Amino acid sequence: MNESVRFEDKVVIVTGAGGGLGRAHALLFARHGARVVVNDLGGSAQGEGANASAADRVVAEIREAGGTAVANHDSVTEGEKIVQHALDAFGRLDVVVNNAGILRDKTFHKMDDSDWDLVYRVHVEGAYKVTRAAWPHLREQNYGRVIFTASTSGIYGNFGQSNYGMAKLGLYGLTRTLAIEGRKHNVLVNAIAPTGGTRMTEGLIPPQVFEQLKPELVSPLVVYLASEHCQETSGLFEVGGGWIGKVRWERSLGAGFDPRAGFSPEDVAAHWQQICDFEGATHPKDNIEALKEMMGNLQRYVL
Ligand SMILES: NC(=O)c1ccc[n+]([C@@H]2O[C@H](COP(=O)([O-])OP(=O)(O)OC[C@H]3O[C@@H](n4cnc5c(N)ncnc54)[C@H](O)[C@@H]3O)[C@@H](O)[C@H]2O)c1
Repeated sequence: MNESVRFEDKVVIVTGAGGGLGRAHALLFARHGARVVVNDLGGSAQGEGANASAADRVVAEIREAGGTAVANHDSVTEGEKIVQHALDAFGRLDVVVNNAGILRDKTFHKMDDSDWDLVYRVHVEGAYKVTRAAWPHLREQNYGRVIFTASTSGIYGNFGQSNYGMAKLGLYGLTRTLAIEGRKHNVLVNAIAPTGGTRMTEGLIPPQVFEQLKPELVSPLVVYLASEHCQETSGLFEVGGGWIGKVRWERSLGAGFDPRAGFSPEDVAAHWQQICDFEGATHPKDNIEALKEMMGNLQRYVL
């Protein structure tokens, strides 16, 4: 097999790598020569408890296959400890894969603060803490790759996952700004929205499909995004079952009104079809491009 995507001098943190997708990522990174910090708190899929054996087992697997890895059992909410562990063990850090996650599914109607907060804490605060602690090292060495794990539940919504969807699309918001801030330091930042047969999706996906959605089918994208080969930044990729696609924002040409004359809710109603018509739609890549239509409207009437 052609394995030219190599990580010999690189150190990679994969959070939540004691099972599921994170385990598959960690194994593939190690196979491609990376030194891997296998982080996992080892709790339940709902974020209860802790168990060191999850991360330890994956480290043993990596070592048996001739790779290099250390286990870390801290919660991602204590990200600075995980980063320090990478520096203590290997003296550097190049890649952060923010993968750790839990579910506390409930309809919004039944949602309580603890389900909302815990999902926020693990996914958003956890990814923030690990990445924030890693950021100065990546910037200073002028090389870094950061991957966030979003979800189609954030992109498209999913019944019973308001907390999870909020967190997952929040991570894409974080991706977009870190990509802008990291670019000139060669720190590239992307997000994936994976689908894989793991304990998180067991029972939710029909068994024959579950079997085929192997976590290993997500990892090649993650390892590519983390490599020197990759110059992509700010991207969002859906991945699973052997398929990878890129997602982008699309915006209609919209409708412009004369700001001097003012306009009413009735005017909005009258133009609703035009506002929502995607014929000739654009795909703004940044804030400046996004503001062009609005500025054009001001220029047309008042500037
Ligand atoms: N499986 C899917 O189809 C799917 C879909 C969309 C997004 N995701 C996301 O992919 C990621 C991996 O999920 P998975 O399906 O492999 O589930 P999983 O439950 O098998 O793996 C998640 C891992 O994160 C660990 N973890 C949880 N809280 C942690 C914490 N505070 N600190 C450190 N580790 C912690 C867990 O112990 C577990 O090993 C998650 O972020 C999940 O939200 C998965």
